[in-house]
Amino acid sequence: MKSFSELVLSPPLMRAITELGYEKPTEIQSQALPILLGEPTDFIGLAATGTGKTAAFGLPLLEKIDLTKHGVQGLILCPTRELALQVSGQINLLGKFKGVRTVAIYGGASFGDQVRGLKGGAAIVVGTPGRMIDHITRRTLDLKNVTTVVLDEADEMISMGFKEDLESILKNIPKENSRTWLFSATMDRDVRRVADIYLKEPRHVQVNRNEMLSSTVEQIYYVTRDSNKKEVLAKLIDSAQDFYGLVFCQTKAIVSEITQYLVERGYKVDSLHGDKDQRDRERTLNAFKDRKVTVLICTDVASRGLDVKDITHVVNHSIPRELESYVHRIGRTARSGKAGLALSLVTPANRALIPRIERMTRSKMKEGVLPTRKEVGTKKITEILTRFQNQTDFAKAKELIDENWKKEIATMSREDIVGKFLMLTFKELFEDVKKSATPSQVHPPSRSPSHSGTDHKRDYGPRRSEGHRKGNWQKGPRRPFKSKWGRPTTTSR
Ligand SMILES: Nc1ncnc2c1ncn2[C@@H]1O[C@H](COP(=O)(O)OP(=O)(O)OP(=O)(O)O)[C@@H](O)[C@H]1O
Ligand SMILES: [Mg+2]
Repeated sequence: MKSFSELVLSPPLMRAITELGYEKPTEIQSQALPILLGEPTDFIGLAATGTGKTAAFGLPLLEKIDLTKHGVQGLILCPTRELALQVSGQINLLGKFKGVRTVAIYGGASFGDQVRGLKGGAAIVVGTPGRMIDHITRRTLDLKNVTTVVLDEADEMISMGFKEDLESILKNIPKENSRTWLFSATMDRDVRRVADIYLKEPRHVQVNRNEMLSSTVEQIYYVTRDSNKKEVLAKLIDSAQDFYGLVFCQTKAIVSEITQYLVERGYKVDSLHGDKDQRDRERTLNAFKDRKVTVLICTDVASRGLDVKDITHVVNHSIPRELESYVHRIGRTARSGKAGLALSLVTPANRALIPRIERMTRSKMKEGVLPTRKEVGTKKITEILTRFQNQTDFAKAKELIDENWKKEIATMSREDIVGKFLMLTFKELFEDVKKSATPSQVHPPSRSPSHSGTDHKRDYGPRRSEGHRKGNWQKGPRRPFKSKWGRPTTTSR
């Protein structure tokens, strides 16, 4: 399909599409929209990350909303709070000219505000399963008028332990006249089971079955020991051209450790994980979107669906245990046709996973060569000296240099002056270099993922998620990836 005008979309939705700058439908939109705008049907839509699945379900959902009717008509379920907020934001933009009211309901935010939103005539509700159940139980959310349910990232909701909640919500939806649409970039067996039970003769669309990764992402891996990872990460950030990215870690403990390391070295860094309170989470994500923070260290809480413009890099501090996590994590970059880099730090023991990832994602990974400390140092110094040279307003500083110092400075070489100044102002820059001369002091034994007990529970938020996740480090064998990397999970029926 070449343009949106080939579809039967009402003028208010067409206007919203134009305002958002969407020139033509993406592949999943081209294939899903004609089906979803037509006769009511259940549906499964699978397409790579960043390819516009939200609008693929959002537009037909909005089109089906009957503004003369009261009550909630559309329900969208998402695995994380941030995603619920983002999806409701996008539905609001798409439904702006039609005047459809959308409310986001998720844990950690004010219950009262959400109730007011629901009572204020919301036609679409976007939320996480746990909070939705709370509203249903308190009778502040009535599902009797719901005609469309969308499960965004259903596989993740199930992995997080939301299966019962999900089923309980679906049971509350009137069977007649309602349809369920399921969207993701990946789909595992459990979701298929839920689909088998709750979806009736669903139509399927799977875009480029062979490509679950964005075609514009470049994947590079670096072989390094666990104890070197922090330093390697700093090097990768330093050697990148304007790094703006996410660093995914397996646990909250590693997130804290890395964040502290980078904060101490002056990076614009913050962290995102499920132990932070919701306001903090939202503040952090907004600071990242505004680029006040350019390095966001996070757990998989940020791996699904988040759409932040122009992320240049996604770094895997270690290869995640599951194929799905790998696909969704690196899908935060290289979105909507833009270029992006996915860098993975791999221990020598896990190097054997690389060909498996390549096979299962049907893509190629390159082995990267780390820049030397000298190269990184030279690049940093060059950047600082450029800023140094560009200083124009330094007359006031000169006035404060007394005569004795002027004489003293006259005896020094220019290079010595600059060298001393750099050493004094950017001490941390040279610390690693100095320390590296005595290797025994450089790398205090840091914990490796397989040896740090409860630290390595997966992290999605305080509520009922931890420990339920399939293939958890504790439950499974210590050897990572066994449950997931062993078999592909994205084939369609
Ligand atoms: N037709 C279009 N033309 C241009 N941009 C689009 C179009 N449709 C969606 N987009 C933009 O593409 C970006 C990615 O969309 P979206 O978040 O829906 O992807 P997704 O397929 O749901 O990805 P993920 O699997 O990571 O959740 C968004 O910024 C969205 O505004
Ligand atoms: Mg999405």
